[in-house]
Amino acid sequence: MLIHDSLIDLVGGTPLVRLGRLAAGLSATVLVKPEYLNPGGSVKDRAATAMVLAAERDGSLRPGGTIVEASSGNTGIGLAQAAAVRGFRIVVVLPETVAVEKMDVLRAYGAEVVTTPASLPREHPEHVNRLAQRIAEETPGGWFADQYDNPANPAVHHATTGPEIWMATGGRVTHLVAGIGTGGTISGTGRYLKEQGPVEVVGADPATSVYHGGDGSPFFVEAAGHYRHTATVTDTWPRSYHRDVVDRIEVIGDRESVLTTRRLAREEGLLVGASSGLAVAAALRVARGLGPEHVVVAVLPDSGRTYLSKYHSADWLRRLGFLDDDRPGLLADATGPVHTVTTETSLAEAAALAAGPARDQPLVPVVLPGRDPRFATAVSELLGVLDRAVLDRAVLDPAVLARRDPATPVGEVMCGPPASVGTGDTAAEALARLDAAGADHAVLLRDGRLAGLVTRAELAARAFSAGF
Ligand SMILES: Cc1ncc(COP(=O)(O)O)c(C=O)c1O
Repeated sequence: MLIHDSLIDLVGGTPLVRLGRLAAGLSATVLVKPEYLNPGGSVKDRAATAMVLAAERDGSLRPGGTIVEASSGNTGIGLAQAAAVRGFRIVVVLPETVAVEKMDVLRAYGAEVVTTPASLPREHPEHVNRLAQRIAEETPGGWFADQYDNPANPAVHHATTGPEIWMATGGRVTHLVAGIGTGGTISGTGRYLKEQGPVEVVGADPATSVYHGGDGSPFFVEAAGHYRHTATVTDTWPRSYHRDVVDRIEVIGDRESVLTTRRLAREEGLLVGASSGLAVAAALRVARGLGPEHVVVAVLPDSGRTYLSKYHSADWLRRLGFLDDDRPGLLADATGPVHTVTTETSLAEAAALAAGPARDQPLVPVVLPGRDPRFATAVSELLGVLDRAVLDRAVLDPAVLARRDPATPVGEVMCGPPASVGTGDTAAEALARLDAAGADHAVLLRDGRLAGLVTRAELAARAFSAGF
């Protein structure tokens, strides 16, 4: 009889699959390891199960106890599955930007979901990790799983993921490519493979992630890379990430990750999340320089079903300006350099900008202070706007200015975050977005970042001429 005592016995043992179309023309063999075939739907089943079993063994998690974790979703799901099987209560703390589907899945497993703002400095008491830690401390029988620092996380990949890849390739694997979230996957798997032979370990990292020296600003690949708020004082990296294991890092922009994710579904039948697109984009780059004797393995962390409203939604892709190649020229002439201020810019400086270089802008976006000005601002760091009315009234009107301290920070007079349209929107679609937001102008986004400004009047003129 082939019967398993519980679902958690089925964690791991995922296959390797050859990439066909996406790797066409390459001499090297490119294989993927679809971790969404785990019972909870992601690579995190491995770490979650291992952490729970280790905590039960060492007595830190006792019968009737409560598991608490900070998670972008998948670890929470793996823990919720293990909690159901082993009879624990579970609380998962999530950044509020996480895909809604993931929250619904957690609740379906009986988890309690607590959300907290995504963009907080590490020291903030509501920061996802700090909040989870506090809830664990304040809950009788609470146990903080702590995937970022729990040694059971990398250890389980050393014990399972690495050996599976070595065995499935008959020891022929030459390159491992994986994203780095907590670092558990790449560290444990990479270390095991290096112990067996000369395997090169390549990290795949979003363009602004801190892991390879990016500015830490937000990126759109969920659960891989390392974000850093500009107000974070001491940025700690997870102990689950063993940098010595990683030979080099391939830096992949959000557009390449997201569009590779879309291609994986459409051309390979692999419905996966964007950290899989990130890893495959990096694996294809690695493979381009290699010959037929090389075998590149990329880890696909989770399924696309949890991201139907994001990476697999044409509307989402267009709204953020990831999908626009099929609409050449649309809104193109609305793009250009945009003058911005930060929440800390003084009214006096804003007035000088608004009356000078930005005098033709219908609005001046207000962005988070402290980012490298050479990079376009990520949409989540567009904190507000000074629209013309505000500029004219509060910033440029000498009477108002005379009453106000010219050093007043712009953050005190700005309006809320701007409406946005994407470079892939048609003028009619962009107008509909303005209508929905009740706005007369919007920021134009390309790859989820500020690329220009548009006004209702311009869009209406364009929509009108497109009708002929
Ligand atoms: C979807 C997804 N991709 C990538 C990762 C990164 O894996 P690791 O934390 O082992 O580095 C995670 C981890 O949460 C994940 O959920």
